[in-house]
Amino acid sequence: MNNLIIKNAAQIVTCSGFAGKRGKEMNDLHVIENGTVIVTDGIISHVLKQGETIPVNEADYNVISAEGKALLPGFVDPHTHFVFGGYREEEFSWRMRGDSYMDIMNRGGGIMNTTRSTREASEEELFAAGKQRLDAMMQLGITTVEGKSGYGLDKETELKQLRVMRRLNNEHPMDIVSTFMGAHATPAEWKGREDAFIDFNIHEVMPIVAQEKLAECADIFCENNVFTIEQSRRYLTAARELGFKLKIHADEIVQFGGAELAAELKCLSADHLLQASDAGIRAMADAGVVATLLPLTAFSLREEFARARTMIENNCIVALATDLNPGSSFTASVPLLFALACIYMKMSPEEAVTAFTINSAAAIDRADKIGSIDVGKQGDMVLLQFPSYKFLPYHVGMNIVETVIKHGRVYQNLKLKTHN
Ligand code: NIG
Ligand code: FE
Repeated sequence: MNNLIIKNAAQIVTCSGFAGKRGKEMNDLHVIENGTVIVTDGIISHVLKQGETIPVNEADYNVISAEGKALLPGFVDPHTHFVFGGYREEEFSWRMRGDSYMDIMNRGGGIMNTTRSTREASEEELFAAGKQRLDAMMQLGITTVEGKSGYGLDKETELKQLRVMRRLNNEHPMDIVSTFMGAHATPAEWKGREDAFIDFNIHEVMPIVAQEKLAECADIFCENNVFTIEQSRRYLTAARELGFKLKIHADEIVQFGGAELAAELKCLSADHLLQASDAGIRAMADAGVVATLLPLTAFSLREEFARARTMIENNCIVALATDLNPGSSFTASVPLLFALACIYMKMSPEEAVTAFTINSAAAIDRADKIGSIDVGKQGDMVLLQFPSYKFLPYHVGMNIVETVIKHGRVYQNLKLKTHN
């Protein structure tokens, strides 16, 4: 049954809204104290203040009593690479010794290393590994995740990754938004022929992905020694013509003009942005591009964090994501994400919550359906062990999510809990 009443939550952190929030708006979480939320047929049907009578027949509903606990929208993770074969623990130890991420990539490691393992992996193996990762993410309160291809870099394996995500979307309670990222790196067989590799993606792979509806968004790694601004513009423009929404890995390692390009193309989001320029930040704010920040990546790569404060002060829509992948951020730790966002990126707890709910929903064009506790939205929520959202960054590195509610169904330790 997906009829559910959550009664008397210490806080309902509604994050109310149907679009991404900017600047000062990010600080207002629209909290209701001691309220009740009702989900009918998987959709939020009532958000009641303390004392308001429950207008449905309780016998038709599962009932959770949430005294002393905070209720939030399910977390939305708008940037991951969670379907991949193999691991890169050796490269991690090389990086600790001083090698840079790009040095390792230029030597044929990094993304190419994972591409080799992903090409070798069967669909079943990728499915099983992907499922395990989704289970872990859901236990941390993530109820919708974006996932990218980009570890195939050939037609067959790119499609394999996307099919695995489609199957996981059908078989796992997590909602998955898929992104085609055929231009994640140039594989050995195309080295030195980057323009031709972009053409191959545009003409040979993208049309199949579009026709089979295997991805909703397209993404490219726009970076020095990866793909140029011109190549990125060409790839993304072609993707838009085929109906994809646009995302871009921008200004991660060096200042490269990725944020400016994202604004020019009115991308849905630009991600990373560690090195984004002032002009790029202002242009993204004007163009309504969501700035998706990935503090777990900066932390894992021992890089300076993105300038969240400057972005918020310039009225950007700032979102947060884990960037779960086997190289630069082998983690989906939501607790650490909140801690880094607040302690190092100097976001307020309120801004961080907005950035990982309604704004991250906006980063995948879902702000009308998820990311807040509003009537009409999907019944995706998390109940914390503590009475306030402020415990999320404060209880550093600890998972304080007690219950995950997906489409009005209740999961505790990932087991579907049946009441009646
Ligand atoms: O978002 N920067 C490019 N892509 C990924 C890392 C992929 C990998 O290292 O496997 C990222 O950090
Ligand atoms: Fe990424």
